[in-house]
Amino acid sequence: MKVRIFADANLKIGAIDEHIYGSFIEHLGRAVYEGIYEPDHPTADADGFRGDVIGLIRELSVPIVRYPGGNFLSGYRWEDGIGPREQRPTRLDLAWFTTETNEFGTDEFMKWCKKAGIEPMMAVNMGTAGIMDAAHLVEYCNHAGGTQYSDMRRANGAEEPYNVTYWCIGNEMDGPWQIGHLSADEYGKKALEAAKVMRWSNGEMDGKPGPNGRLKLIVSGSSNHEMPTFPEWDRTVLEHTYKQVDLLSMHRYYMYSTKRKHPLEDFLGSADDMDEYIGTLRATIEYVRAKVRSQKRVGISFDEWNIWTVNAPRTEPLWKRAPHILEDVYTFQDSLVFAGLMNTLLRNCDVVKAACLAQLVNVIAPIMTEKGGGTFRQTSFYPFFYAANNARGETVRTISDSDCFENMYGEARYVNEAVTHDREKREVCVFLCNYAQKSRDVELELRSFGKLAACDYVEMTSSDLFAVNGFDHPDTVVPHKKDLPTVRGGSKVSLRLPAMSWSFLKFTY
Ligand code: AHR
Repeated sequence: MKVRIFADANLKIGAIDEHIYGSFIEHLGRAVYEGIYEPDHPTADADGFRGDVIGLIRELSVPIVRYPGGNFLSGYRWEDGIGPREQRPTRLDLAWFTTETNEFGTDEFMKWCKKAGIEPMMAVNMGTAGIMDAAHLVEYCNHAGGTQYSDMRRANGAEEPYNVTYWCIGNEMDGPWQIGHLSADEYGKKALEAAKVMRWSNGEMDGKPGPNGRLKLIVSGSSNHEMPTFPEWDRTVLEHTYKQVDLLSMHRYYMYSTKRKHPLEDFLGSADDMDEYIGTLRATIEYVRAKVRSQKRVGISFDEWNIWTVNAPRTEPLWKRAPHILEDVYTFQDSLVFAGLMNTLLRNCDVVKAACLAQLVNVIAPIMTEKGGGTFRQTSFYPFFYAANNARGETVRTISDSDCFENMYGEARYVNEAVTHDREKREVCVFLCNYAQKSRDVELELRSFGKLAACDYVEMTSSDLFAVNGFDHPDTVVPHKKDLPTVRGGSKVSLRLPAMSWSFLKFTY
């Protein structure tokens, strides 16, 4: 069985916005405390930020991080997390049944972002806070000075405004689990008003940018496509907010479940299912754009995506600070599905303009830490690493004759691919997953790029689908370098992909 994949430099899908390599830090479990912030750690700096963790995040080239939640957001008063630490209140976090000490808040996050070379993506509470709380946070972050909230920031040590561009208006407001959950109509109306006052606080008037530009506002879309309100939620919310917002948020976690009829196939079908999910929302956005007679194109911010499988009963006591919760350890099989999801994001780069891998450290994350100790890279670290560090420029359309397998979502291709083209660097990258139980021969034809020569080839595979990395065995599942393939006539390459494997190839011209 041979799979032929054809790509042509002239068939561009769209420009890759580097914000699709974003991630997410929520006040949840050990993401903040013992994750990015641990003042007693040997690698911590004077601000308490773990240097070893910043090093790993830099390896991943994460450009933007969403903060402070997640479900946590909807019960959060941002004023709790600013000012002298000893005066900050300790509160119950009703989203995760933990205790929040507020030692780390907006100013610490901004400092951490600066140290890690990351752009902040802030989120405002739409569950239990009002629209003026959102406006005041914009004022705190973005107004130069001379007003109550901007002067509070200056008194707290940040003379210059943070100039935050990306703002999420609430989180998963369609979910009954959300503190202050609303109907689509209620949320749509509130989000529109919040967007207006947030823009005004940023000095944006009558559609004109403020002194530091325009905010990029992200309205809460469906939490996943299994919600009974999907995609009606998205249509209703967009009809209310279309003229004020830039991006529609999407979330989706895929899981492996032995309770399903075909656990493996159903899991491997995730990438193609994500593609269809994006397709539905792309169509919904177009429908609303036509209905509200707008020329503006709203994009998608896929600001929570990942594999999330552990649903084990909680063993950590309630109301603990920084408990070990949602600490999935990713298998090799998880990384294979993860790699396919990254391909889907790349193939939809014309509409997906931001995305956040949820999350970044300890909580369903590519980076794990030990309190006072070391770190390890999860299996999912590697597909993210190769895409974020290489897939730049644009994605090009591919035509593949891969055969398909049945799964709970419908049909999915055995060989899942994405091809990107960086015109500046004169590089072409190819990302391939083989979801078949047998090796597959692939014939690649990469036309009109120029005379290609291979310069990098790595492969990740394992005889044990459930192999994992850990603190004492960090390199059980890692990619391996392969001999560079010959490029016949500057465009044709023959490869053999092992059964259940992920591969990355880079060519220059
Ligand atoms: O990322 C974990 C949680 O998943 C987030 O808090 C929430 O937004 C989603 O349901």
